[in-house]
Amino acid sequence: MEIKPAPLFPTLVWTTLFDDRTRFNERLLEQAHQLRRKHPTGVAKTNVKGWQSANNLQNLPEFEEMNLRIVQVCQRIAESQKFAPDLNYQLQAWVNISPPGASNQVHFHPNCHFSGVYYVSLQAPECGSIFFRDPRVASRMMTYPVTSATEFTATELRMRPEEGRMYVFPGWLEHGVDENLSNTDRVSISFNVLAVPGG
Ligand SMILES: [Fe+2]
Repeated sequence: MEIKPAPLFPTLVWTTLFDDRTRFNERLLEQAHQLRRKHPTGVAKTNVKGWQSANNLQNLPEFEEMNLRIVQVCQRIAESQKFAPDLNYQLQAWVNISPPGASNQVHFHPNCHFSGVYYVSLQAPECGSIFFRDPRVASRMMTYPVTSATEFTATELRMRPEEGRMYVFPGWLEHGVDENLSNTDRVSISFNVLAVPGG
């Protein structure tokens, strides 16, 4: 007798690794540091101890290539999920520089279809993983008597950051970042993408 699970309403996190990450990240890292030198105070949101830029990379020409890639990836994902053609993909993006000891509290990103992060520079695996919280609120009514968590029984799932890798997920999916326990800054670019009709 074969018993097969069928995933209903799956929560998808998409990931892609840039082929030219070494060359690409070198420039991006320099641009991230330049931005911090220009705006040393940054903004305070979910970042604990870290520096976060204003939410405006989409307006900065030096980040044009990064912005373009984010939109391309999100557009490909949207097409795979049968989004309407001729949508306008609106981007907001920002830089995070998280020194040793920094983390991000659990949060979600309202008013966007896709959110994500691209890792520019880090020391794996101690730099802190991104973790996602089970969005199936009803599942919190009951815990499972398991010896170890599976993707079905877990309440949180972690994904390891990697230089040159991008993660994309629905904006409503709660997530956070573990403390950076390495002795190097973790540098990443986070973003929101909203697909709106109008071409
Ligand atoms: Fe986030």
